[in-house]
Amino acid sequence: MSTAAIIVAAGAGERLGAGLPKALVHLGGQPMIARAASAFVASASVEQIVVVAPPKFTDALHEHVPAEVQVVPGGATRQLSVTAGLDTLGPDVRVVAVHDAARPLVTPELIDRTVAALRPPWDAVAPALAVVDTLKAVDNRGVVLRTIDRTGVWAVQTPQVSSRAALERVHARVASDIGAATDDLSLVERAGGRVLLIEGDPANFKITHPVDLVLATRLVTSP
Ligand code: CTP
Ligand code: MG
Repeated sequence: MSTAAIIVAAGAGERLGAGLPKALVHLGGQPMIARAASAFVASASVEQIVVVAPPKFTDALHEHVPAEVQVVPGGATRQLSVTAGLDTLGPDVRVVAVHDAARPLVTPELIDRTVAALRPPWDAVAPALAVVDTLKAVDNRGVVLRTIDRTGVWAVQTPQVSSRAALERVHARVASDIGAATDDLSLVERAGGRVLLIEGDPANFKITHPVDLVLATRLVTSP
């Protein structure tokens, strides 16, 4: 019985606008994928690591990850990329941690803590942080419809850890509306699974827009 990590890196990085996939964008002198992959290599709780790459950049990503990390081509949506990762797992893998390559500041400590929290009765576990901003529901013109009570509202990070069987089941079940989910927990929830959130790491934010890269660069280069 072992634990695997699927690092999804097959996105185009359109909002970052760097002209190449985010995984290859440098952060403090290293491509983001190198940082994310190294954290999983350093984690004591993960035995197999699969990086899911944009099909045209599979070789490019391969050059930037440690030798034991596998690189496979991904799909048109995040869910299809997760499926490509699932298809690559070895027969002994029972637990899977799915991580966004766009969160390069993940630490081995957070990975280990999340994997350790997956035990009965939980079907999936992920790190998360309480939302700090006031939340408003708006229409498509930005007109405020109402304020959403943020008490008990958490923003979810990755890695998202679940049993391999549960993840494969939900991926098969949602094949019809595949592509809609932006994370794996929502699939497990929809299938009636019990999901636990644990305290996340503020530095494990997702690099989405250019300002996120500026902040992350400061974090990795400041003494
Ligand atoms: N992802 C993926 N396959 C896709 C789409 C997304 O593996 N077809 C991955 C991304 O590489 C990223 C993670 O899912 O690590 C979260 O997605 P996001 O932050 O939206 O990254 P991108 O899709 O690359 O960015 P954008 O939406 O701005 O194009
Ligand atoms: Mg995207």
